[in-house]
Amino acid sequence: MILVTGGCGFIGSAFLLSWFRNTDEPVVNLDLLTYAGHPGNLQALSGDPRHIFVKGDIADSALVARLLEEHKPRAIINFAAESHVDRSIDGPLAFAQTNVVGTLLLLETTHAWWRTLPPGVAAEFRFLHVSTDEVFGSLDANAAAFTETHRYEPNSPYSASKAASDHFVRAWHHTFGLPTLTTNCSNNYGPRQFPEKLIPLMILNALGGKPLPVYGDGMQVRDWLHVDDHCAALRAVLAKGKPGECYNIGGRSERTNLAVVDAICKALDTLRPNTDGARYADLVTHVRDRPGHDRRYAIDDSKIAHQLGWQPEIEFQHGIRSTVEWYLSNQEWVRSVTSGSYRQWVERQYESLARAA
Ligand code: NAD
Ligand code: DAU
Repeated sequence: MILVTGGCGFIGSAFLLSWFRNTDEPVVNLDLLTYAGHPGNLQALSGDPRHIFVKGDIADSALVARLLEEHKPRAIINFAAESHVDRSIDGPLAFAQTNVVGTLLLLETTHAWWRTLPPGVAAEFRFLHVSTDEVFGSLDANAAAFTETHRYEPNSPYSASKAASDHFVRAWHHTFGLPTLTTNCSNNYGPRQFPEKLIPLMILNALGGKPLPVYGDGMQVRDWLHVDDHCAALRAVLAKGKPGECYNIGGRSERTNLAVVDAICKALDTLRPNTDGARYADLVTHVRDRPGHDRRYAIDDSKIAHQLGWQPEIEFQHGIRSTVEWYLSNQEWVRSVTSGSYRQWVERQYESLARAA
């Protein structure tokens, strides 16, 4: 079996659902259920004996040690993190705690257990750390895309915390021989993404007739990847990746934020036209830019494509339409995650941005 951390979040839950479409190998899912973690994301696994959910913190070494002893996983996949850049600007300490200290303690606990394994079992074990392209910093418009050897230049508290965690993972391989794998992925989109992130926030605001808050000029570029493609890449890295290596994962789909918002609006114009004929794009409102906003990310995926045979399959126009359809058909999920604390965050964040614009 494998141990997954953060399996109730956006990517972790997509990973678990896709895992069980491909295999019957059981998974222990350790998740703290922060504001971003929703057991409802895994409703389809309710009563499924292959999925063992444990509520807890990756920094709780006693709990993690007990889970490792009890379940003896052949691999750990670490999704658990604080993941939203704007929240990291608002309150960076939670990011240092989970992304840096949490990952470090998870490595320590894993290493202490791993070195007691018989040599053959230890050699086959994998610690897969799920990281981000944001650790490489920002690219100029015409600069070459990030390769795995691109210099680390994190610019936000979030990316700095993920960069620190990547360095610890690297050190645990080089110093202690732990068979680690690190992936650095671009922006994901798809079902069950928490509506603090660009795409679901824009879909829900549009449906509510609210302004669509584009930061600054909206010409920042991200490389969008459907979450199911990311999950397929992670399965390939787990199965075939070489210990100690890093793999960049991207969507071959660079787009400005304005183009992404426009694609969402056009999908909604078709799928849920306004009764008065108004276009959703009329709701676009430019607000104050994110402090330190990275201009462009782009991924060179040659390594994973050539060495592991993975490439993205889901084309953006198709993926964005199916994502909009998912949010339209899952209003109960939307209601369940947009609780009081979510509404408070959105009101505080966007009132201050609008005032300052
Ligand atoms: P998310 O915020 O949706 O989910 C994070 C999950 O981790 C939640 O279920 C939360 O409850 C859990 N968690 C948080 N702190 C924890 C702790 N201390 N112990 C145990 N569980 C904890 O995040 P996501 O978008 O699904 O991202 C998952 C991972 O992928 C993160 O490491 C993120 O840095 C990375 N990543 C995300 C993207 C993206 O576009 N979303 C892209 C590249 C990499
Ligand atoms: O690149 C990978 C990263 O992508 C992941 O590591 C992060 O966990 C994930 O959150 C994401 O980070 P971004 O900051 O790129 O994603 P976000 O959805 O917050 O924003 C995408 C772009 O849209 C970014 O340029 C900021 C802009 N934006 C975002 C919001 C929420 C807006 O213009 N308006 C908004 O309201």
